[in-house]
Parts: sequence; structure tokens; C-alpha cells
Amino acid sequence: MNRSRIKALVSRRFWHAFGQISRRIRCLSQVRATLDSIGVWADALSSVLNQNAGAWRNGPASAIIEARVIRWLCDLIDYGPASYGTLASGGSEANLIALKCARDNVVETIKDRGVRTAPGELVIYASEQCHYSIDKSADLLGLGRDGVRKIPTDERFHIRVDELRRQIDRDREEGRLACCIVGVAGTTSTGVIDPLEELAAIARENNCWYHIDAAYGGPLAFSDQYKNLLRGISLANSVTFDPHKWMFVPFACGATLVRDGAKVLRDAFDMSPEYLSEDRGGADVEFDFFRYGQMGTRRFNSLKLWMAIKYMGREGYAATVERHISLTKYLAERLDAMPEFRRVGEVETAVCCFQFQPESAEIMDGPERDGLQMRLQQMIERSGEAWLTTTVLNGRRTLRVNINSFLTQQRHIDDLLESLARYAAKL
Ligand SMILES: Cc1ncc(COP(=O)(O)O)c(C=O)c1O
Repeated sequence: MNRSRIKALVSRRFWHAFGQISRRIRCLSQVRATLDSIGVWADALSSVLNQNAGAWRNGPASAIIEARVIRWLCDLIDYGPASYGTLASGGSEANLIALKCARDNVVETIKDRGVRTAPGELVIYASEQCHYSIDKSADLLGLGRDGVRKIPTDERFHIRVDELRRQIDRDREEGRLACCIVGVAGTTSTGVIDPLEELAAIARENNCWYHIDAAYGGPLAFSDQYKNLLRGISLANSVTFDPHKWMFVPFACGATLVRDGAKVLRDAFDMSPEYLSEDRGGADVEFDFFRYGQMGTRRFNSLKLWMAIKYMGREGYAATVERHISLTKYLAERLDAMPEFRRVGEVETAVCCFQFQPESAEIMDGPERDGLQMRLQQMIERSGEAWLTTTVLNGRRTLRVNINSFLTQQRHIDDLLESLARYAAKL
């Protein structure tokens, strides 16, 4: 290949990469965080080393590093010294692992002899706004998707604790057992945080497992300004974290943390296959992560999380989380000043939901209004100027912005507002 061809190729690659990055800056939709460059290098290094993070004997360095990052995440949410956890492929798997512990906690026999040995139908309680992985987990765990009670939310999309109490009482009267209450710290559609302390009290009163899905909101714990939003998180039996969201770690990296120690996870998952269970005095069991979830061979994922935390530090994450929330509040204020847009819910984290409602929409029925939101979203997406998405709130299609790139600045929000106004005028 001659020099000019190589130069042309490099330049094309450069602009392609640049385009990717600039799109991420304006990628204001589902959490596809701009990556921390250190995470990319760490991910490559993990591939080169190709350690199997399943058993200590196969990957001692990965095991020690995984235990270290788990400790950092536990300390971040003020879990006590007994707490432990495991990395998972993402928030969905982390929720599944936690709910398996919750299910097995009801009766000892379930793990070996199935849910038919429970003295009643098991029920999981979560808000209508919980992530769909809760339903999937209920199905995989033999409780069935109908085993998840979707509790209505208030006008700001937090779980209603009065409705939760009523539903638990109703189920108890009908012979069902409360298996788990799930609180969400950062709901997928609106980013709001359930009343975590109150949910802990209800779980305690009903003697059931309490899980918090902090896949999105967990990193609020880095910020002194916003940590109080997670008040009560350390009361949960288990917590889902998802570092590939607001911690900018390359996909895939989730985590399940458990308050009462490694044994909780081992009780739910441990097996001792002959080829992995030579007696070495028991010291390696604690670092055999295959005993803590359903994966056998596991990728050395802890390295990218370890490096990301070292690189960003507590202050780096805190500053990013705080900046994202203030940019989102700025967006909300600007939208409030645009009469043809109406915000839905409140901004608690870096998610802002709103609808396009021009005067002409007043005579439209619900589906027509939904169509209007979809058309506006699609016009902006096709223009390539930004990417926002839609969700459904109170039964109606709603535009949704989530700021999740540390490269996004106020001028990008101004550009988005300008695009919204320009394309809305064409509808
Ligand atoms: C609250 C919440 N929990 C769990 C998940 C699932 O995470 P993942 O996509 O990493 O499996 C998501 C994803 O958006 C989420 O928002």
C-alpha cells in the first residue's frame, strides 16, 4: 500500500471515530455512555491476558481484583464489612442473581426441589416503573411473570407505599408469600428514586427480602450533593450496580452486592464440580467467583472497572454526575419556557421527560398525540443532529432525554432545543 493510500485510510478511520464520538455527545437517549478511554485499554488487556475469572486457580489476579472492586462498590454505599458481591454481565443478570437469593431465602428446599415445595405462591413486589428484567427473572426462577405485582406510582413515578402495603395484605389473606420487595434507584424511563427507607421498613415488617435496583442511580453515591437520594440503600439485602452505565465502563459490566456476606451468594449458587474442587484448605473458595452466580468461565471484567475507578476517582465520578444533573435541570428549565412543550414528571437525576403539545394537539385523541411525539423523535433522529428516545408514561408516548456522556456540554443542549423547536414547527 502506498503512503497516500495509508494516509487516506487513516484519515477516514479518524473521521469515522470522530463521528462516533460526536454522536455520543449528542446521544441523549438510552444509557450508552461515552467510554472512559482507560476502560477500552483495560478491556483489550483482558482479552490479551484471557484469564478465566471463574475459579481462583484459573485466574488468581482476576479473582483478587474482582474482590477489590466489589469491596469499593460496597464501601461506596456504606454496606458493612461483611458485605460481598460478584460482577455480572449487566443490570439484568445482576437482578436475576439477587432475586435468586431472595427466592431461596423463603424456604431452604426450593433450590433442590423447586418452588412447589414453598408453602404458598411467591410474590415479588416492584413499581410499575421497574425494569423488565424483574419480570424475566421471575419467569426464569419459576415464579412466573404473573408473580410480579406491579405497584402503581405517584404522579412523579415513585412507588406508592400505601398501595404496596395494601397489595401485600391482600396477597397474604389469599395465602401467598411475600418473597421480595424491589426498590428502584433510578427508574429506566424517568430516572427517579423510590422511597428506599420506607421500603426497607415494609420489607422488615413482612420479613421478606429487600432488593434495590440501582443499575442507573448507584453512582449518585459518589456525590456528596446527591448521595442523600440513596438514603436507605445500605438497608437492602442486595443491590444491583451497573458500571457500564453511569460509570463509563465498556459493555458489559454489572454487579450484584449482598449485605450479609459471600455465604448468601454461595448458598444460592455454589456447586463443587470434581475438576474445580481439589481441597486446598478452603482458602480459595472465597475467590471462586463461579460459586457466586450462574456463569462458569468468566471474562476478566474486573480489570476495566478497577482501572476506571482508579482513573476517574471518587471526585471525577462525583463531578460528572453533578454536571449531568445540572445540565438536565437546565434543559428542563428551558423546556418550561417553551409553550408548545410540557414536561412529564420531575428531574431527579439526569433524565428529563416531556411531550410536544402545540395548541393544535388539543383536539387530537391520545394515539394522534402519540404519533406526534414519534414523528418529532424520528425527524431529529434522521437528521443526525441528536438522538433522543421515547417512552410511555401515564399511558402516553413521551419524549425522553438522558444525559450520559461526559463530553456533553450546555451548547449541545442548546442545539437540541433548537432542533426540537425547528422540527416541531414543521409538524
Ligand atoms: C433500572 C434498570 N435496571 C436494570 C437494567 C438492565 O441493565 P442491563 O441492560 O445492563 O442488563 C436497566 C437498563 O436500562 C435499568 O435501567
